[in-house]
Amino acid sequence: MGGGRGTIATKASNILGVSAYYHDSAAALLKDGELVAAAQEERFSRKKHDARFPGNAIRYCLETENLRLTELDRIVFYDKPLLKFERLLETYLSFAPSGFRSFVAAMPIWLKEKLYLKTVLKNELAQLADCKPKDLPPLLFAEHHQSHAASAFFFSPFERAAVLCLDGVGEWATTSTWLGSGSDVEPLWEIDFPHSLGLLYSAFTYFTGFKVNSGEYKLMGLAPYGEPKYADLILDKLLDLKDDGTFRLDMQYFNYCTGLTMTNARFDALFGGPPRKPEGELTQREMDIAASIQVVTEEIVLRLARTLHEETGEKNLCLAGGVALNCVANGRVLREGPYDNIWIQPAAGDAGGAVGAAAVAWHDYDEQPRRRNGNDGAVADRMHGSYLGPRFAPEQIRAELDAMGAKYSVLDDDALFSTTAQQLADENVIGWFQGRMEFGPRALGGRSIIGDPRSAKMQSVMNLKIKYRESFRPFAPSVLSERVSDYFEQEAPSPYMLIVAPVREELRLDLTDEQQQLFGIERLKLKRSELPAITHVDYSARVQTVHEETNPRYHALLKAFEERTGCGVLVNTSFNVRGEPIVCTPTDAYRCFMRTEMDYLIVENFFLDKREQPAWDDDTSWQDEFELD
Ligand SMILES: [Fe+2]
Repeated sequence: MGGGRGTIATKASNILGVSAYYHDSAAALLKDGELVAAAQEERFSRKKHDARFPGNAIRYCLETENLRLTELDRIVFYDKPLLKFERLLETYLSFAPSGFRSFVAAMPIWLKEKLYLKTVLKNELAQLADCKPKDLPPLLFAEHHQSHAASAFFFSPFERAAVLCLDGVGEWATTSTWLGSGSDVEPLWEIDFPHSLGLLYSAFTYFTGFKVNSGEYKLMGLAPYGEPKYADLILDKLLDLKDDGTFRLDMQYFNYCTGLTMTNARFDALFGGPPRKPEGELTQREMDIAASIQVVTEEIVLRLARTLHEETGEKNLCLAGGVALNCVANGRVLREGPYDNIWIQPAAGDAGGAVGAAAVAWHDYDEQPRRRNGNDGAVADRMHGSYLGPRFAPEQIRAELDAMGAKYSVLDDDALFSTTAQQLADENVIGWFQGRMEFGPRALGGRSIIGDPRSAKMQSVMNLKIKYRESFRPFAPSVLSERVSDYFEQEAPSPYMLIVAPVREELRLDLTDEQQQLFGIERLKLKRSELPAITHVDYSARVQTVHEETNPRYHALLKAFEERTGCGVLVNTSFNVRGEPIVCTPTDAYRCFMRTEMDYLIVENFFLDKREQPAWDDDTSWQDEFELD
């Protein structure tokens, strides 16, 4: 079925994209080619990086359009399970006999779920739809990197672009390049497993004692505390990097093909001893390793981006895949790379595969043309600011708050923005819950914890009393889009907080000779700029530009704060504690508010003061409820 290219289907078309069974399960709904809903399963199940069948996320997507699952035109899975199985089988066999043990260990999982994935998926969908598997809408499978590429290009503001997918591993490809034009995304070339930038970064995530597939962000945050003294060693021993950015890893240092860990004893010997134990003390070695792998990653990404530019001549670049969440590398591509514009899919990891898979079905399979949204600039993309999750009506918020015995007042918009701005200026920490929940790993002012970036104590208060997480981790700024270049060395919009830029020179504070001697974590305590809470130790910041068009309420709050203080920036961190998925419902938000030392909670127009709340009798401590990430 499907009309020919150039015609729009006359019947409403509903396509569900699904990503599952690997990490970060998600669902997305495309209605007549427009992305109307997308969410990750973890937000509903409250299990971080939940990889199970995303039944809750699918149910949510269907509810937004009042659809039954059987009314969908098609369902598209983001990955081809048999290709992945073939990779596993070939990998284990080619590394045999040393790979035999992990082969046996991994096999039962694959036999049970992955090999029969199509059957498993159909059964789960049928159960959700309360129908027989044969009565389900047609089920399609896109390829893993094709889903990433489609999520990057089709939702970008560009008519044409080069596309670079940087991933751990999909089926075989780990890095892939594409050319996007109109309604087509054509493959160019790829680098295949086991040579993987994502897995290389993950190997170091593991070695420095962080959790693979979630601790990569921490490793990136640690890098500015160290010196890249191992960078040459990495380039010498671990990989053969060509001028064009393509590379091969020397597999004798890695264990991920044959063992159950990422690195091995030979790797340990290169970096002066065994991996750091999780939650063990962070030493200068880990900081130097973090700085080193970060530099190498940036070098590879820059070289790949340049090669792709030479080959395609395109002035726009789209990025997706887990490595595209490395916002320090993205910032360098923007500033030093050959492209005029870059756009990064905000759900760059596997969750975004659900969005991409649905778009593959619409443009590639159904041959439907791509439409632009007619806006210019940053909001010209098709992601709706990534505000694609659930929203809550006042009656529902009131019911949830009442059920927990919460005490609140309801303010009109003007009072809400001005009161909140004043509380922020008084160094209070505020839970800010407005509109639709974000899709992708970053909170963008829909489910955020916010504070005053001028406050010297804000970084440690937020890390230790609110998030209960490692003190070295930096916080990100939300800035009025129209004022971004007043604070940062950046002009381009960054609505998804995926680009790191330097804080402007004029805002930086000079360090004394004595301060300059400080090493590693000692540097954290120094006041580095007029906006200390969002300035990392290397004077960088992970910028989110806030646009009136996509988030008018957050923009209005920033305006009110600016009127009061002259400062058009806020600290923005995700609304959760360490190990907890970002809050989804008012109930999640209130629980998180009461478990932490947050001062105020604002849920749409409901205003809650911590001092007025009844004693919180919560017998399940969050430390037991959420596994540390
Ligand atoms: Fe992926």
